[in-house]
Amino acid sequence: MTKRVAILISGGGSNMVTLADSMVGDHPARPCLVLSNVPDAGGLQKARDRGIPADVVDHRDFKGDREAFENALVSAIDPHAPDILCLAGFMRILTPLFITRYAGKMLNIHPSLLPKYKGLHTHARALAAGDAEAGCSVHEVTAELDGGPILGQARVPVRPADTPDSLAARVLEQEHRLYPAVLRRFASGDRTPIFLPWLSVPAKKG
Ligand code: GAR
Repeated sequence: MTKRVAILISGGGSNMVTLADSMVGDHPARPCLVLSNVPDAGGLQKARDRGIPADVVDHRDFKGDREAFENALVSAIDPHAPDILCLAGFMRILTPLFITRYAGKMLNIHPSLLPKYKGLHTHARALAAGDAEAGCSVHEVTAELDGGPILGQARVPVRPADTPDSLAARVLEQEHRLYPAVLRRFASGDRTPIFLPWLSVPAKKG
């Protein structure tokens, strides 16, 4: 049975695009929903352009009431009956109530080599620590922030002239390799972690 995938975003949605575009042909899953907590998230239009239902639950409408916000998320998600939820740059912390509801079905991509640098400002923290390498992780979402079982990691070198932005761009290229690879494997029922070696993505021509 083809799996149904809901993707939660807050911004440009470049990871959402690589996930959505990977779910073709003999892939075991298809996108069923893109949901954003930010009404003008750039990823919403990219989803609609691909014929994927796109919806918004604006967290600001709930004025700090996390339970009400999450209930609204559930009401937006459940009619689409997803088998898998992918957090792809979804920048709200979820409560155990929401996480328990989708236990074993929810993945997240985080821009660090977990368990290093949970939370925000991962690239600045890697540079401040003088790390020789950085990277990204896809993990199962559990009640511990950025703490669930790791399903994949990709590494990048840190260059001497790096800024948080240049390092973020190098890591993001690898996010776009890693997340689709992990989703494909996960959707086929295999949770064996994927560890991608460093592979520079050639610059786009033109
Ligand atoms: C990505 O770098 C993702 O790893 C990060 O947000 C960016 C979203 O970019 N996620 C987190 O920091 C989660 N804590 P995108 O909207 O272009 O996919």
